[in-house]
Amino acid sequence: MSMNNSPIGVFDSGMGGLSVWRELRRGLPEESLLYYGDGLHCPYGEKPARQVLGYIDAAVRELLDRDAKLIVLACNTATMTAVKYLRSRYAVPFVGMEPAIKPAVESTESGVVGVLATHTSLCSEWFAELRDRYSADVEVVSAAGDGFVEIVEAGEEDSPQAGEVVRRAVRPLMDAGADRIVLGCTHYPFLAHRIAEAVGDGKVEIIDPAPAIARRVEFLLDEYGIRAERGHAAEYGFLSAAGEEYARRLRGKAGTLL
Ligand code: DGL
Repeated sequence: MSMNNSPIGVFDSGMGGLSVWRELRRGLPEESLLYYGDGLHCPYGEKPARQVLGYIDAAVRELLDRDAKLIVLACNTATMTAVKYLRSRYAVPFVGMEPAIKPAVESTESGVVGVLATHTSLCSEWFAELRDRYSADVEVVSAAGDGFVEIVEAGEEDSPQAGEVVRRAVRPLMDAGADRIVLGCTHYPFLAHRIAEAVGDGKVEIIDPAPAIARRVEFLLDEYGIRAERGHAAEYGFLSAAGEEYARRLRGKAGTLL
């Protein structure tokens, strides 16, 4: 089998994709990772799709210029907006995110599954299709994590205000009887401890799709024969449209996840 020590590119609108980066690093310790967090145009949620597609395309080209052998779109909004376009345009494999509704549906005991995602993701046709696929078996309820992305970007996950913002978003899911909460935005795992606090009772499971994404990446590396050599010393790079200071913040946050 051929080997390839080039990096895996990981893209997000900002810092959220580091929740996926963390799982890739854990699961694939010999793979170099090149993380691109836009940072300048985040959040993508409220911006027109065409504009967002332009930002993503520029980032992907930069990752490809630096030899990325596979690119993970570690952002639900980016996946929804750009994955089809990127696959039709570039030869490298792309891995996208989608809310992990399936494992939640398979394991719920109350029959109600909650999804937390950005307003844009929840309003999309893509989400409607996903929900319809499962709603014959269970009730799928959703809530927008308004303000969540901004809190994570500001590094204010542990502030009292963050607790209040999270409680407000989670309450309707609890009221509907959800016993599974699917995190449909890659920024949200950084608020998982606040969500757990808001939920309170221990019977609710919070589901982060990142470990499944890392397994999918591993599968594709084998499928394409592009794994790094055994014993390869992985390198971790950080790029941003927002400049050096933001890239340093990305590296700093990633350092806390090791
Ligand atoms: N991490 C992105 C996602 O998963 C955040 C979305 C945004 O920038 O609005 O959707």
